[in-house]
Parts: sequence; C-alpha cells; structure tokens
Amino acid sequence: MVSLTVNGSRMDIDADENKPLLWVLREDLGLLGPKYGCGIAQCGACRVLIDGESTPSCVTPLGAVTGASVVTIEGLTRPDGTLSDVQQAWIDEQVPQCGFCQPGFIIAATALLDSIPQPTDADIDEAISNICRCGTYPRIRRAIHRAAAARAQA
Ligand code: FES
Ligand code: FES
Repeated sequence: MVSLTVNGSRMDIDADENKPLLWVLREDLGLLGPKYGCGIAQCGACRVLIDGESTPSCVTPLGAVTGASVVTIEGLTRPDGTLSDVQQAWIDEQVPQCGFCQPGFIIAATALLDSIPQPTDADIDEAISNICRCGTYPRIRRAIHRAAAARAQA
C-alpha cells in the first residue's frame, strides 16, 4: 500500500510499488491525461508534477512517490472548474494538433512558469525538452509567453 496525494486528494493505493506511476494513474485511478509515448523518459508525454517538479511518470515507480504530491493535467483545472492560465493560453493560441503530447507540455510549461515567471525564448528552449511530432513548438512558445503575461496581470 502506498499513500500519496493525487490532484489534492489523499490516496492509499494497493498496487506493486515497482509499477510505473504512469500506469497507476491511468489504470488504477482512471486519469488518462498523462500519455504513454516512449517509456524511456525522452518524449515527455507522461509528465506530471511531483512535489512541483515536472517529472516523467513512465520511469517513476509508485514506491518512489510515497508521501508525495502528484498533479496531473486534470489537477491543473481550478476547483471552480475554470482552466489554469497555462491551459487557457493553450486554447487561446490553438496549440494542439493531434493533441497527444500536449498534457506533458502543459505540465512542463506550468513547472517552468512556477520557477521562472517571465521566461525568455532561451529559457523555454532549455526547460521544455518534450517532443511533439506534430511540430507545435512555435505555438507552444507563444502560449507560454501568453500564460506568463496572464499570470503577471492576475
Ligand atoms: S512516455 Fe514518459 S517520457 Fe515518453
Ligand atoms: S500535437 Fe501531435 S504530437 Fe504534439
């Protein structure tokens, strides 16, 4: 049994401690936002926030997050149902194409803005290592700047 917090709710999960967190989230908790892409910590499709850090959940065993706070893209939406600044910016810039990689990008962008409120293009390129086969990178960059501006006005 592993105890942790997922999207603000305390949980006791009865699963193998070696099971990758990605599969715990998708199979045991029904959180389908985090996606399986490469399985080797390269593409970023599975990224979640673990204690605020953008982390690939495909290579993170459940046992490693005992007592931690895990936030998936589902957990970024505010309690009143409104979207986070990053989620809203993604819509306003019409970022997604197929959409598969986007939850991981939104998680990575959220972590970036939490540590660097006004990132430069160089900051973005350095911090966001996710892979998008559809090539949405220019719009992702615009959306991050839009979200940064929205946060500055909040
Ligand atoms: S599926 Fe985890 S980084 Fe690609
Ligand atoms: S939007 Fe299709 S892979 Fe990124």
